[in-house]
Amino acid sequence: DVTSETLDLKNHIRGIPDFPKPGILFYDISTLLRHGPAWKAAMSRLAALIAPHKPDLLAGIESRGFLVAAPLALELGLGFIMLRKPRKLPGLTIGLNYALEYGTDRIEMQADAVQKGQRVVILDDLLATGGTMAAGISLLRQAGAEVPCAAALIELSFLNGRSRIDTHFESLAAYD
Ligand code: PRP
Ligand code: MG
Repeated sequence: DVTSETLDLKNHIRGIPDFPKPGILFYDISTLLRHGPAWKAAMSRLAALIAPHKPDLLAGIESRGFLVAAPLALELGLGFIMLRKPRKLPGLTIGLNYALEYGTDRIEMQADAVQKGQRVVILDDLLATGGTMAAGISLLRQAGAEVPCAAALIELSFLNGRSRIDTHFESLAAYD
């Protein structure tokens, strides 16, 4: 069966045409999540890529980023921070608006989630334009974190999101 040595991640990701809009090919990780050994192998492989950056904490971007960051935090024995959609978190929060193709979006985190200088690695399922990940990195820095590394399962290379990420970036599968 699949192990972190033998995993071919692209065998476990489907491209679904015309979702959510005509002309968009949606890379669906549901098939990976459904396959226990492949999901575990993908998490082990990501853990090995981010461990050298010596994180104190991991951060995940709502919602699919939680599916990556939470299991990785367990695997590495680290705590986990939620970067959430607006008005979801209790207590004092800080947030950042960022531009989308049409309109804007916003992410928020709890103001006391990190201590100054803590090393936080940020995770998401997919890097497309990079806008979401770039906003997450800026917000974590605003909270006092250092962000030595960002990572995603999938990277859409043709959108060149990587150019917007001003820290080390890792992905497990790139699509042209
Ligand atoms: C998707 C994906 C990333 C983001 C990537 O999230 O999970 O978070 O878009 O796009 P970008 O690199 O162009 O910013 P989505 O907003 O669809 O929400 P979800 O994770 O809650 O499904
Ligand atoms: Mg997302």
